[in-house]
Amino acid sequence: MADVTELGYLGIGVKDMEAWKKFAGEVVGMQVVDEGEGDRFYLRMDYNHHRIVVHDSGEDDLIYSGWRVAGPQELAEMKQQLTDHGTEFTVGSPAECQERRVLDLIKFTDPGGNPTEVYHGPQVDTHSPFHPNRPTHGKFTTEGEGIGHMILRQPNPPAAIEFYTKVFGMRGTVEYKLPMPGAPDGLAQPMFLHCNGRDHSLAFGFPMDKRINHLMIEVDNLNDVGNTHDLVRQSGTPVAIQLGAHANDQMFSFYFGNPSGWLFEYGFGARKSTHQSEYYIKDTYGHQPEATGFGMDLEL
Ligand SMILES: [Fe+2]
Repeated sequence: MADVTELGYLGIGVKDMEAWKKFAGEVVGMQVVDEGEGDRFYLRMDYNHHRIVVHDSGEDDLIYSGWRVAGPQELAEMKQQLTDHGTEFTVGSPAECQERRVLDLIKFTDPGGNPTEVYHGPQVDTHSPFHPNRPTHGKFTTEGEGIGHMILRQPNPPAAIEFYTKVFGMRGTVEYKLPMPGAPDGLAQPMFLHCNGRDHSLAFGFPMDKRINHLMIEVDNLNDVGNTHDLVRQSGTPVAIQLGAHANDQMFSFYFGNPSGWLFEYGFGARKSTHQSEYYIKDTYGHQPEATGFGMDLEL
């Protein structure tokens, strides 16, 4: 059986391309790369050609996510695993693979209806070192762990957990029981899944309007969390969840709104994924809610 190895790339559709360039470059500290295509630009976090493609398509939401497998043999095995599960896929044409800057690619939708891709062989530009648009103390932690983690909309969490564990080979289960107005029994019971050393690469089980609630990115220097927090405050960017530490990944983080109205989580110091399940009823400290309307109106 082939397992996915990392959450490798995301495509997002946005209404305001210029606002996103400013936000990603000057607030978040990514590298903005505009190759003159007009309908898109790229966000870099490391040597990869890109980690996020920002499309001028107006959805203000996630439009696809790319999960990596090790190589061509694993991609062939993944095709069989999808077929065995009854999930139809299309094989990316050479033009589609070039568009994503990967060697090979398949496309399908996950049980939540989220456009999903599995690929191997990303374009890695060692000739062009990562150069953030504003100074940083350290780097994004992506080596062997991918872009970060995301919260995806899954109307049927049991179907999603079956898909991501049995087809993608990920591991995980419920990790929190949290009071949440509007959730069944007033309780959110989100599930968290890992596929590498990152504590989790995927979570779901929150009621959500958009496909994505937040994308977590991690840095290797605590000062970058403080500096980014200053820049978020100075730029008037809404903070949805204040600084604090999660009980599951034990990361020091905070959450702020992006120009599309969903969230970035920015943190430092996460522990590695554990291989025995446990759950929590509260975060370690902090993480008080602040700005509302981002789908994270719960008591952490
Ligand atoms: Fe998170």
